[in-house]
Amino acid sequence: MRLVNAKEMLRKAKEGHYAVGHFNLNNMESVRAFLLAAQETHSPIILGVSGGTAKYMGGYRTITDMVEDFMAYLDITVPVALHVDHGKYEEALDALNGGFSSVMFDGSKLPIGENLEKTRHIVELCREKNVSVEAEVGCIGGQEDGHVAMGECADPAECGQIAKLGIDMLAAGIGNIHGKYPADWKGLNFEVLAAIQKAAGDIPLVLHGGSGIPDDMVRQAISLGVCKVNVNTECQIAFTEATRKFIEDGKDLTGNGFTPRALLADGLVATKEKCIEKMTLFGSLGKA
Ligand code: 13P
Repeated sequence: MRLVNAKEMLRKAKEGHYAVGHFNLNNMESVRAFLLAAQETHSPIILGVSGGTAKYMGGYRTITDMVEDFMAYLDITVPVALHVDHGKYEEALDALNGGFSSVMFDGSKLPIGENLEKTRHIVELCREKNVSVEAEVGCIGGQEDGHVAMGECADPAECGQIAKLGIDMLAAGIGNIHGKYPADWKGLNFEVLAAIQKAAGDIPLVLHGGSGIPDDMVRQAISLGVCKVNVNTECQIAFTEATRKFIEDGKDLTGNGFTPRALLADGLVATKEKCIEKMTLFGSLGKA
């Protein structure tokens, strides 16, 4: 199966009241782990690529080729979308030229007028290539320069404006943040979420910062219209903890444990298991 855009999988998720997991790629092991997790559980999946990952893994075309070749090699038959995560304007264009099937243009730091104008242009370009588009309004907080910014809430009126541009999914802050949540975090704001969904019409909503949100809050967000949940930090931690344990247990010092493939094997399994745990929570198992 070739890469698909995210439109159909999100339409089905909306109809079926579940969410599709977006998992961020960080290295080759994560490609393998997420594809195997999706196939084993018959779940649709969205693979997210940040600008940093694109640079690390050799650019958008290299990643497209790697994911497609892996899919053929591993006989992956479930729907897989390859998606730009928080793309700047130029990154979104690069990814479109590099064969990605889905693009997030994040203009949330721009004045709303400019965000709308650039999002409109990206939508036009994506439509020509049958690529799905995610837009963002209202900044989603997170760790920056060692300081954790509390999650802001988006303005539902702005959500309504951007939803009219023909986008396929909308990320809007409801108190969520990227990375680890601080101990005094106030939780998701479901009133704002309901107001955003009302203003944005039928568009599937995206919950960023999916790591560390209590399960019942995630379920409630899905019941109110969230159809895509982004997870990165928890999968990274699972990978690193398993790798650290491998070394602390001295396994790198016996047999062929020194080889990079052996060193990273437990991390790959832990990433896959975390991915399945999240897809179970989101309700996407068996929906491929
Ligand atoms: P976390 O790293 O908090 O899971 O967030 C991931 C994300 O939202 C990527 O866009």
